[in-house]
Amino acid sequence: MILLKGVRKSYFIGEREIEVLKGVDLVINRGDFVILMGVSGSGKTTLLNIIGLLDRKTEGEFLFMGYNVDGLSDDILAKMRNRHIGFVFQQFFLLPYLNALENVLIPIIYSDKKIKNPRERAKELLERFGLKDRIYSKPSQLSGGEQQRVAIARALINEPDVILADEPTGALDSNTGFEIMDLFRILNEEGKTVICVTHDPKVKEFGKRVLRIEDGIISEDFKN
Ligand SMILES: Nc1ncnc2c1ncn2[C@@H]1O[C@H](COP(=O)(O)OP(=O)(O)O)[C@@H](O)[C@H]1O
Ligand SMILES: [Mg+2]
Repeated sequence: MILLKGVRKSYFIGEREIEVLKGVDLVINRGDFVILMGVSGSGKTTLLNIIGLLDRKTEGEFLFMGYNVDGLSDDILAKMRNRHIGFVFQQFFLLPYLNALENVLIPIIYSDKKIKNPRERAKELLERFGLKDRIYSKPSQLSGGEQQRVAIARALINEPDVILADEPTGALDSNTGFEIMDLFRILNEEGKTVICVTHDPKVKEFGKRVLRIEDGIISEDFKN
């Protein structure tokens, strides 16, 4: 599903080049539940953003859903993201002036996928995530855990192939964080591919596979 071979990524700050990824080799298969660990600044977000077509590698080979995406325009990449990927972030990124249901429906606006009865589907997802009484609430009226469940529903509305989560528990207390990870575990059991970045060692128990990024490469790759 996702293949990286010798992937490098540098940032330039003025004249100075910082190489964050120094040759990442990685294959992620459909149905996998990957936890990507590493200390702060190790390049987890950089790697996830490359996999999620939000950023481009500097060198190496990268296939997403079997496609070489190197030459594709930003517009095409945005379409591919919308079609194939559900994103979940530490800070939820819900729109404050929309209610939970409207937030979940946002990806539908940009979608060329035919999703049947999106409004019903959005309600079902929210109900399933224990938010039946919160469907018309604004983000400011919701707890952190509730907001993250809305964000996960939004990530799922377009029926993506893969969920990419960057520190999804980072803004939550540990119990709420575990509930969120358990939700990912259930979604994975139902067949969704999940890639979750964290620097929290307690979160790694939830994955089927744990990767560690260190000094710009994958230094550990083991099955749970
Ligand atoms: N847009 C950018 N421009 C310059 N440097 C960046 C940029 N994004 C990240 N970096 C640097 O790359 C390194 C890895 O960052 P990041 O991938 O965010 O790490 P992590 O998510 O593991 O904390 C850090 O040293 C960070 O400062
Ligand atoms: Mg990060």
